[in-house]
Order: sequence, then C-alpha cells, then structure tokens
Amino acid sequence: MKYAYVLTAIAAIASKVAAVGVSGTPEGFASSATGGGNATPVYPTSTDELVSYLGDDEARVIVLSKTFDFTDTEGSATGTGCTPWGTASNCQVAINKDDWCTNYQPDAATTSVTYNKAGMLGITVGSNKSLIGEGTSGVIKGRGLRIVNGVENVIVQNIAVTDINPQYVWGGDAITINQADLVWLDHITTARIGRQHYVLGTEADNRVSITNNYIDGESDWSATCDGHHYWNVYLDGSSDKVTFKGNYLYKTSGRAPKVQGNTYLHAVNNYWDDNSGHAFEIGSGGYVLAEGNYFANVDTVMEESSFEGALFSSDSASGTCESYIGRSCVANANGGTLAGTSTDVLSNLKGETLAEAAGASTDPAGSAGQGNL
Ligand SMILES: *[C@@H]1O[C@H](CO)[C@@H](O)[C@H](O)[C@H]1NC(C)=O
Repeated sequence: MKYAYVLTAIAAIASKVAAVGVSGTPEGFASSATGGGNATPVYPTSTDELVSYLGDDEARVIVLSKTFDFTDTEGSATGTGCTPWGTASNCQVAINKDDWCTNYQPDAATTSVTYNKAGMLGITVGSNKSLIGEGTSGVIKGRGLRIVNGVENVIVQNIAVTDINPQYVWGGDAITINQADLVWLDHITTARIGRQHYVLGTEADNRVSITNNYIDGESDWSATCDGHHYWNVYLDGSSDKVTFKGNYLYKTSGRAPKVQGNTYLHAVNNYWDDNSGHAFEIGSGGYVLAEGNYFANVDTVMEESSFEGALFSSDSASGTCESYIGRSCVANANGGTLAGTSTDVLSNLKGETLAEAAGASTDPAGSAGQGNL
C-alpha cells in the first residue's frame, strides 16, 4: 500500500516535470533555437535567484510562477531630466542619461527626475536558456532582459515584462539583444516600458524570431503625449535576420518597428491596432519583406519621409516572390503607404528559413502575448 502510494507520487512528479518546457517550436530565422533543451526545470523564488539562474553558465529551463518585482531592488535615484515633448502630465520626461538632454535637447526645459535604478539596465541572460512562464503568472516587473555579448540559443516564452520607469525615456528597455544568435521571443507581453519594448543593438544579432508577442503601448506617459507609446521595436544591427510574426501592437505611435543597419526583417501576419503616429520606419540598411499584415486604425503605416531602405510588400506582378522564395507572398490589409517592390529584399532572403505566411488575420489579439500559447 505504502509502496504503491510512493510510486503514484513519483509518477505524478514525473508527469509534472515532463509537462514543463517550451511549447511548440520556433519559426523563421531562429528555428533551430533550443534554449535550455531538456534541462531539469528550476523555479526561482526570489529576484536574486532569478538573476543567478539567468546569468550563470548552465543550460537551464527556468520557470516563472509568480511576479518577480525589481522595482525597489536597487532603490531610486534623483537627477536631472528634460521635457522635449512638453510639460503636460501625459508627456514622457527624458532622463539626462549619458548627457542626452544636454547634447541633443539643448532647448528643452530641465526638470528633476526620480526613477528606479534597477530598470535602467536589464538582467543579463546567458547562453542555452529557456525562460518560460506558467499560465499567466510569470511576470518580471521593473526590469528587462539583456541578451548580449556573444550569447546564443535563448528562448523566452509566455512571460510578461512590465512597468519599467514608464514615465521616463531612458528609464529602461524590456528586451535588449545585441551581439547574439538564435534568440526566440514568443508569447511575451510587454507593457508600460520607459524606452523600447524590443531593441536590437548595432552589433550583429544574427538569427532572431520575435513571434506572437503583445506589445501593449498604452501608457499614462508618452513621447507623443497621447497615451500611445512611441518607442516600440528598434531593429538596428550589422548582420541581423529577424522574423517578426504574429505580433499584436496596440496603442503605439512610432518606431513600430524602426529598421536599419543591415537588418533583414520578415514582418508577417502581425496586427497593428490604434497607432496614432507611424508603424514602419525603414532607414538605411533596412531590408523589409512585409506580408499578410493587418493595419487597423494606423495613422501612417510607413513613414515615407525617412525611407532609405528597401521594401517588398506587394506581389502584384505575380510570380515575383515565387521565383525568389519558392512561394507567393501574401497581401497586406490596409497597408497604405507600405508599398514596395524591391527585389533586392527577396534576393537576400533566397535560401533562408522563412516563416510561412497566412492571410492577414483580422484578430490576432486573441493569440498573442502571455497566456495565449
Ligand atoms: C551551449 O550549448 C552548446 C551545446 O551543448 C555548447 O556547445 C555550448 O558550449 C553552450 N554554450 C555555453 C556558453 O555554455
């Protein structure tokens, strides 16, 4: 009897362990990311333990089953800031980080700023890690993640990253990648972030898939002073291939995304909802294939005045995509100014692992972000 009970208990534990892991497999450029693989899951209980698991040299599956609140872990700092967007209470204020106000906003009024120090620099993530959330309970509050300095093979799935000094530009980014390879970011919700929700820095980020995320731009403070966040997805780089698929971008007003610096972006089946400024900004070195996207209530789908890159967004001369990538491209819905026929984009993508494209969805909101695996 006792023996049978023990066996049952072991079986129960084994099935729980077996059930914990990354859900599904990555699509697109980072399709060979495996993260922590089948390492035994660990469940951090404190912010220190989470930082330690993320930053060490072990392959790890790290499961978040509660909120890790970094708001006060390093205390606050008071310093000088500036108000380039005005002094209304719904405008963001900039921290004078690295003398940004002094150097770039000499005409803006200065003001005092008090912010949480932990938010300024994200948690370092090492190679071979899976960071996953249980249900809707895995939240990192007040601090972001940094996947940088040669790190490779990282999966982040089904967590929320929230409340990083949202009133302050330079208050912190949610997810930073800079000099990395094979990063899959999936079903993440980001909300109330000071600076970028996603930022890929100027170093090579190689193969990245950003899929099914909810970028919630609603904020009480914004650089456009209208409740819509301006700093959303900034894809810089020197050799970056980014799959951006199935994401839901809500209440943004700019840089959603900004693409430049030898970055190949496959933007497919994303949904923009209520953008008061621009979605795409494509600078020099940005190569964008945009297909199957849906734009609902977007003021400017692509900012034409800053367009210096290359764009393919229309397969109207039918057979063009087929001849480069082996299938037809899918039309965008309400694409407006997002109109390009550059075959340079397609020739760069020839032979690459591309995500599939479905028709432009009219409601991906229900499948994006944390809790929608
Ligand atoms: C990541 O895992 C791969 C495969 O096991 C291994 O070769 C590599 O050294 C690991 N990277 C680090 C930084 O531990």
